[in-house]
Amino acid sequence: MTLLQLENISYGYIDGTKKRIILNELSYNFEKGKFYTILGPSGSGKTTLLSLIGALEKTQGGVIRFDGKKLEDIGYTNYRKNNQAIVFQQFNLITYMTPLENLLNVMNITSNELPKDKEKTALALLNRLGIVESKARRNVMTLSGGEQQRVAIARALSTNVGLILADEPTGNLDSATQREIVAILRSLATDYDTCVIVVTHSDEVANTSDIQLHLRDGKLIEQKGNIS
Ligand SMILES: Nc1ncnc2c1ncn2[C@@H]1O[C@H](COP(=O)(O)OP(=O)(O)O)[C@@H](O)[C@H]1O
Ligand SMILES: [Mg+2]
Repeated sequence: MTLLQLENISYGYIDGTKKRIILNELSYNFEKGKFYTILGPSGSGKTTLLSLIGALEKTQGGVIRFDGKKLEDIGYTNYRKNNQAIVFQQFNLITYMTPLENLLNVMNITSNELPKDKEKTALALLNRLGIVESKARRNVMTLSGGEQQRVAIARALSTNVGLILADEPTGNLDSATQREIVAILRSLATDYDTCVIVVTHSDEVANTSDIQLHLRDGKLIEQKGNIS
C-alpha cells in the first residue's frame, strides 16, 4: 500500500546567478512495510531529497502526499511531529540530555497516541535497542557512537510514525555495529509495517533492502537485483 507519493518533484539551488537543478521532476511511490535504500554519488541530491520528504524544506515544484494527503494540507509542523522521523548521520541528539530525555522530548510533542507511561515505554524501547537503563539515564554524550545511533533510532521509533528516514546512518560506525543498525532498520519495516528509507553508499546495506533506488540525473531509478 502506498504511503508516500512523490509527484514531479523539482528542487534546485542558486549557484552564483544560475539555478542548478538537483531534483528534476522526480516521481516515485513508497509503500508501507518496505525497506528502501537510495544510492547515488556524492552531490547527487540524496540529502536534499530526504529533507524534502522530511519536510525540512519545501519543494519548488511538484507535490508530496502522505497517506493520500498533501503535506501542505497535513501541515508541515504536524507532519514532522506525527508522521515521520529522521535519523541523521551526525545523530542530532540533544547533547545536554540523557537518552531517556531525548526520547521523552519528542514523545511529549507528538499528537500520536502513545502508552500512558511514557518513561516506561521509552526505557523499554531503548532497552530493546541495547541501551540499558543505567545508560539511558546518563548524559548521551558519554555513550559510544554506535550507542548514540541506537538512541537516535529509538527516538525515531518512539513516536509511532509510519515513515522513518535515515541519511547515511552507518557512515560513522565500524562494520559490526553497522550490520546491527541495518538489521534494526530492516526489522522496523517487517515488524512495525513502517516505511524505511535509508540513504547509503554501502553496497552491503543496499543489498539487504527490499528495493534499491539510484538517484541519477535528478530522478530515482529502481535497480533490479543485487549489486555484486
Ligand atoms: N544549501 C545549499 N546551497 C547550495 N547548494 C547546495 C546546498 N545544499 C546542497 N547543495 C548542493 O546540491 C548538491 C546536492 O547536495 P546533497 O543533496 O547534499 O547531495 P548528496 O547528499 O547526494 O551528497 C550538491 O552539489 C551540493 O553542493
Ligand atoms: Mg548527503
